[in-house]
Amino acid sequence: MYWHGMLTLGFFFLVSEGKPELGFKEFYAHERLTGYMESHGFVVTRHHLGIETAWKAEFSHGHHNGRIIGLQSEMDALPHLGHACGHNLIAITGVAIALGLQAAMQQHNISGKVILLGTPAEEHGGGKIKLLEKGAYKEMDVCLMAHPGPGAPDGTVIQPWIAVQNIDVEFFGRTAHAAYAPWEGQNALDAAFLAYSAVSVLRQQIKPTHRVQGVMSGNESETNVIPDYAKMRWAVRAPSWTELEVLRERVIACFEGAAKATSCKVKMTPGVGYKDCKQNDVLGAEFLRIAGSRYQMQATPSETVLQASSDFGDISYEIPSIQPVFTIPTEKNGSNHTPAFAESAKTPRAHAASIRTSKALAATGLRVLTDDEFWSKIASSRTSASSSKDLL
Ligand SMILES: *[C@@H]1O[C@H](CO)[C@@H](O)[C@H](O)[C@H]1NC(C)=O
Ligand SMILES: *[C@@H]1O[C@H](CO)[C@@H](O)[C@H](O)[C@H]1NC(C)=O
Ligand SMILES: *[C@@H]1O[C@H](CO)[C@@H](O)[C@H](O)[C@H]1NC(C)=O
Ligand SMILES: [Zn+2]
Ligand SMILES: [Zn+2]
Repeated sequence: MYWHGMLTLGFFFLVSEGKPELGFKEFYAHERLTGYMESHGFVVTRHHLGIETAWKAEFSHGHHNGRIIGLQSEMDALPHLGHACGHNLIAITGVAIALGLQAAMQQHNISGKVILLGTPAEEHGGGKIKLLEKGAYKEMDVCLMAHPGPGAPDGTVIQPWIAVQNIDVEFFGRTAHAAYAPWEGQNALDAAFLAYSAVSVLRQQIKPTHRVQGVMSGNESETNVIPDYAKMRWAVRAPSWTELEVLRERVIACFEGAAKATSCKVKMTPGVGYKDCKQNDVLGAEFLRIAGSRYQMQATPSETVLQASSDFGDISYEIPSIQPVFTIPTEKNGSNHTPAFAESAKTPRAHAASIRTSKALAATGLRVLTDDEFWSKIASSRTSASSSKDLL
């Protein structure tokens, strides 16, 4: 009964046009989304748990023993690229699932609660991890969200996501005249280039599922001065946190070796780390069944690790969760984190794909609310534990 006629969602284009904002600066999105949820009968908390652009929108119905569905709206864009990861679509997906569940709970007198979190700074700041540490996820029984990506039309896939650890690396040397007395210097830029080369060589000896990527920043060097400082930012990725820790040590050895070879000092500062995303098997199978059978999506499970990371990983370690990827039409070579993807994420077809995915996720959430047997399977199910895979 709960399928019937309950997911008539308004079609809306909130935050989708115009104003991409960087992590922890999603002020416009915060205002628009909280206002919208409030006008639809949700109890809204702005600046949730002291994080300026985080927010919460809650809706409860019926008795107080109902289960609690957690949802998320991401909002942040990428520097210089706009919504090149389509988080504008993730924002409206959270809203759409929440409204779909609300409509069904009201029409069919279903008890339960929906908590939609506005989660800032996915790309770099780990907004969800900050919210997790402050207790924002404590009440939730399950947690659902979706992410857009390229691929065949109307597709959706559930697969594990790779873990990531960011590391800032600084090399400190000593300046000298580059022609008159270069032997007096310690060349920090050389250290950085050796580190870059050492990691490039290491890459051949790591698994194809692992990733290491580094960029240079730091001082404006001059050709007549031996550079005394160089700064790099690195990201180390592996399918599980345990494997990541092993790879991280090998990468750190490259930085230390480069420092030793150049008589420089190295300082390494760990940045945000995101755990791998564990997709709950029971929730995942049900979502794919619904997406395929009711919404004509090409729904595929996959064991292959998705080469992308999310702060949702840390949530998935705590609560039975899924984050399917749904496809939107893209240009050739126009995947996530390109200007072309930002254009694709604005299109009506991308919005239609988001709404369709939202309906399938809302129906999955509804099953959690209404079906005790289904719920007990989730509660006792193990997530597809990528972290238990062999290390070497
Ligand atoms: C809705 O369900 C509650 C129990 O959860 C019940 O007490 C109430 O009478 C129901 N309302 C209607 C209109 O059926
Ligand atoms: C490079 O930057 C570091 C850190 O900001 C600073 O200590 C150092 O003096 C700078 N060196 C040059 C040559 O500008
Ligand atoms: C896509 O990238 C490949 C490899 O760089 C290039 O050869 C090709 O021309 C690109 N196609 C388009 C449409 O940009
Ligand atoms: Zn991204
Ligand atoms: Zn993203």
